[in-house]
Amino acid sequence: MSLPLGAGAVLDREPASSDFLAEVIAGLSNQPRTLPCKFFYDERGAALFQKICDLPEYYVTRTELQILRLQGATIATALGTQIELIGLGTGAGTKTRILLEELNSPAVYIPIDISKEQLQRSTTRFREIFPELEILPVCADYLEPFELPSPGRVSSRKIIYFPGSTIGNFEPRAAKIFLQRIADLCGKDGGLLIGVDLQKNPRVIESAYNDSAGITAEFNLNLLVRANHELGADFDLNHWRHRAIYNAAEGRIEMHLISDIDQVARIEDHQFNFPAGENIITEFSYKYTPDGFVALAREAGFEFVRMWTDDARLFGVFYFTVAK
Ligand code: AVI
Repeated sequence: MSLPLGAGAVLDREPASSDFLAEVIAGLSNQPRTLPCKFFYDERGAALFQKICDLPEYYVTRTELQILRLQGATIATALGTQIELIGLGTGAGTKTRILLEELNSPAVYIPIDISKEQLQRSTTRFREIFPELEILPVCADYLEPFELPSPGRVSSRKIIYFPGSTIGNFEPRAAKIFLQRIADLCGKDGGLLIGVDLQKNPRVIESAYNDSAGITAEFNLNLLVRANHELGADFDLNHWRHRAIYNAAEGRIEMHLISDIDQVARIEDHQFNFPAGENIITEFSYKYTPDGFVALAREAGFEFVRMWTDDARLFGVFYFTVAK
């Protein structure tokens, strides 16, 4: 089925809103207590994340962009001509635009994102910049199985593009299952271009997630702000602190919300007691060695082709093809 979409029109597979209340109650009832990081991204959280990307300490976005700018032509050669590029969570499309500008006659671009407004905006702009390209935007949660539109144009192969080191926010077992799904999605001649944050001096990582302007703290505390606004919870925002700690044994930075005092928070008819110093874990962000990530992708059914990195080896852009 080919879906003709007008300027900016989006194939709507937007998921029903997930159950914030049930997930918050379940997470706070765990030991250690947790809150899922997927709830960071309401409108305010998404705006705070944009600010994080521009922070001097947050090397992640800047470094990935630099790799794409410097190595874009070589990456494009590896990916080949007339490809169908499928972007997962590509947002405003800054990185994808750099890639598309370098690609040799790409045939089709399918951006998949949960934010419909952002997809509409970027699709309208991309159709102006790349008039030759068939663009089929899909509003969907790429964490859940979803259907791809069938392009009208013939392409040489499907390549999934998953930038931003979002793969680092999955625990390794879930990352492997997710990558297996991607391998199925792109089929036997398919490929995967993926941005992955690399292991490095823990001080560099900790300062990226404990920035001096306090933006990451606001981003983290926004989960409690949301719980207060949307669920009628009564978290006292003056008595919670943000802290990000690098766990070297697990190779991950952990975002915590720490209670300053003995306190109680209520959500509907649930009551949670937090002794002073108690933590809520809100996010893991795994950092990989190049070998470690290649091994994970191999277990998921991919063959390593190449990694592009920066001089300081802070970040890697990996290219894999589906194993025969
Ligand atoms: C979206 N994700 C890759 C970011 C990261 O670095 O793990 C989320 C983030 N959390 C704190 N700062 C940025």
